[in-house]
Formats: sequence, C-alpha cells, structure tokens
Amino acid sequence: MLTLQGINEVRDYVKHWRITGQRFALVPTMGNLHAGHLRLVEYAREFAEHVVVSIFVNPLQFGPNEDFKNYPRTFEADKTKLISSGTELLFAPSVDEIYASDRERITRVDVPELSAILDGKFRPGHFAGMATIVTKLFNIVQPDVALFGEKDYQQLQVIRRLVADLSIPVEIIGVPTVREADGLAMSSRNQYLTAAERALAPQLFHTLDELAQELSNGRCDFQRLESEAVRKLSTIGMRPDYVAIREASSLTAPDNASNNLVVLAAAWLGKARLIDNIHVHAKRAQVT
Ligand code: PAF
Repeated sequence: MLTLQGINEVRDYVKHWRITGQRFALVPTMGNLHAGHLRLVEYAREFAEHVVVSIFVNPLQFGPNEDFKNYPRTFEADKTKLISSGTELLFAPSVDEIYASDRERITRVDVPELSAILDGKFRPGHFAGMATIVTKLFNIVQPDVALFGEKDYQQLQVIRRLVADLSIPVEIIGVPTVREADGLAMSSRNQYLTAAERALAPQLFHTLDELAQELSNGRCDFQRLESEAVRKLSTIGMRPDYVAIREASSLTAPDNASNNLVVLAAAWLGKARLIDNIHVHAKRAQVT
C-alpha cells in the first residue's frame, strides 16, 4: 500500500486508472479504524478494482467545544489494518495541505435543509464542515464510487443530496452498520466510555429496536413513541439529544401512510455522544 500526503501526488497516481478506464473507490475516514471501516473497504472492493482510503481528522466539522484535539489518532495501527484489507492507496494529508488558506474563511458546501435538523441542531456547522471536506476529497481523488457507513445516517443523506445537487459524478454507496455482539454500533468514540457506561451503551440500540418493532406493527403515534424512547433512555442514565422517527430518504416528519421510515437517536453517555439508527419498513393500512 502506498501512502501519499500531497493533493497533486494523489491526482497523478490515480490518473492512470482513470485514463485506462479502471474503476476505483474512495473510503473517506477520520482514522482510528475499526471493523466498521474495514467493512467499507471490503464492500468497496466489490464495486471497484482499486480502493483508496483517506484518513483526515477534519477540523472544519468539529464545533469549538467538541473533541477535535482528543479525537483518537492511531495512524500506524490504521496503516497495518489497511494493508491487510487490500487498500492500494492511503491518502493522509496534513491540515495545511487541505486548508492552505485561512480555514475560517474557506468556501463551504452547505446542504441547508438536511443540515439544520436532528444532529445539525445540536452540532451547528458540523454538516457544512463535513460536506466541504467530502466535496474536496471527491475533487482531489475523483473516484467512481464512494462508500459511507449507515451509522451516520444523516451524514449519508447529506452526501447523497450534495452529489445530486452539485452534479458530482460519484456513485454513493451506504454500508450497513457494523455492531458489537451486544448491539452497540461500532464507533471510534465508544472508547470514551467507562466500563460501566460501556455496559449500558447497547441500550441505545435496544430502545430503537423496540421502537422499530412498534412501528412495524403499525403504530403511528410518532410523537408519543419518540417521547417514550427519550424517557427510557433518560431513566437508564443517558442524556438523549433526540429520538426521531423520519421518512427514510427525506428525513421529513412521516404521516400515517409512510412506510419507509428511519428511527434516529443521539444520546450522551458520560463523555461519549452516541448516535444510532434503524431503518423500518412499516406495515400500513392501504389507502383506497
Ligand atoms: O464519517 C466520517 O468519518 C467523517 O465525517 C468523514 C465522512 C470521513 C468526513 O470527514
């Protein structure tokens, strides 16, 4: 596996694949790789002949009081994992390489509606920062296909929308969430949990799963279901930011006929902010 830090070097390297019509995939990450990231690489190999992974902890998507400084950085261990995963090129730029000009004044990519709701309400500027780096990575690498985990469901919808709106010729693939044996969604931030918190953490998934069962059985008192779930999470010691039932592709509020739903949640447990979601194909009475 080759590791490159420069934008021009990456462009030069992939040029040959493009000219010769070989498909290549990009898996953007912030490093500290776990089985969820490696699943993205595994999927990528099914969609393309070559896989490029980027590791870049993007300061633009962290708020002033968030964990940018403490975000786990494990570059050497990540490289070892990527070598065994069949990754061919690792792009690991410095912050200066990516944001050569004044970061605060840089052009940003904003997907307004999708970025203002749910996580966007609690993390102002996060999705614009994320959309900006993803757009830059697409422009630098120019992959045929890019893969993102469904654990960050809202992020995936923002990326789908920006690619459609800006006519970016990259196919976006969402990859199902990889979970620990007890149901907890894998995340680099899980390591902020103490042992006691780690034992509680799967309750986020189990609470969403129970809610999803109710929806599958036809319940459509959405607000009540959301409040019940928030109460459950608070009772066990989490501090939920939200539990929300939404239309799966638009993330708008559902109505009684909606049957393609997603249940999303974010909750604090100690120093960790956990997010998770479950897709639900709900049974609904046919409207005639
Ligand atoms: O999901 C992530 O790890 C990041 O948000 C991403 C997509 C790599 C952009 O920095």
